Amino acid sequence: MNVSTAILERRAEKMFDPAFAISEQQMTDLLEKAMLSPTAFNIQNWRIVNVKDPALRQKIREVAWNQDKVTDASLLFVICADLNTWAKEPARYWAGAPQMYQEMLIPAIDVYYRDKPQVQRDEAMRSCGIIAMSIMLLAQEQGWHSCPMDGFDFEAVGKLIKLPEGHVVSMMITIGKRTQESFPRVGKILLNEVLIENTF
Ligand SMILES: Cc1cc2nc3c(=O)[nH]c(=O)nc-3n(C[C@H](O)[C@H](O)[C@H](O)COP(=O)(O)O)c2cc1C
Repeated sequence: MNVSTAILERRAEKMFDPAFAISEQQMTDLLEKAMLSPTAFNIQNWRIVNVKDPALRQKIREVAWNQDKVTDASLLFVICADLNTWAKEPARYWAGAPQMYQEMLIPAIDVYYRDKPQVQRDEAMRSCGIIAMSIMLLAQEQGWHSCPMDGFDFEAVGKLIKLPEGHVVSMMITIGKRTQESFPRVGKILLNEVLIENTF
């Protein structure tokens, strides 16, 4: 499947087949590819919680507007970020790069993020949004379906997954096989409302 087809066919699916299973190996293959998604300074700040425990899924569903897909989808990922990966041995993110890049970028990481909580959080959300789309398109390529989600109580989900200090929840994604065709796309605005030339 090419990228355009994956984008054209991806929809935010509502209902998933609880009997459909995705193997550990298939999940690993998907995530290893998704992890090639770009992050600023290569800080790879995403952390992905794979919620396998049915009882935990049920508890998350209860704080996610009772959305069926939370329990029914084959996979439920809580896409989180560690706000401090910039400080965690940052040299490893550039190991093997030409010396000139290492000397320039490794100190620059510190300058960019240190004592800047808003920048750290913005970066977390950027990275998570990008990897989320990679995950959904890779799922599409496998013939699976997905749904991005923010219809849940972030604090409650954070508690349920034991979100560590210095981490944030960005969104959730369900992946599996849909049980019904989506209705045609609705309400899409036109490019001329979105595209601004040069300045607003
Ligand atoms: C960040 C984000 C959060 C969303 N949260 C939910 C959700 O909690 N439940 C749901 O059914 N759909 C959710 N959606 C799906 C959107 O409603 C959907 O993407 C949008 O209506 C466009 O439809 P399409 O993705 O099928 O083209 C979410 C989408 C995004 C990007």
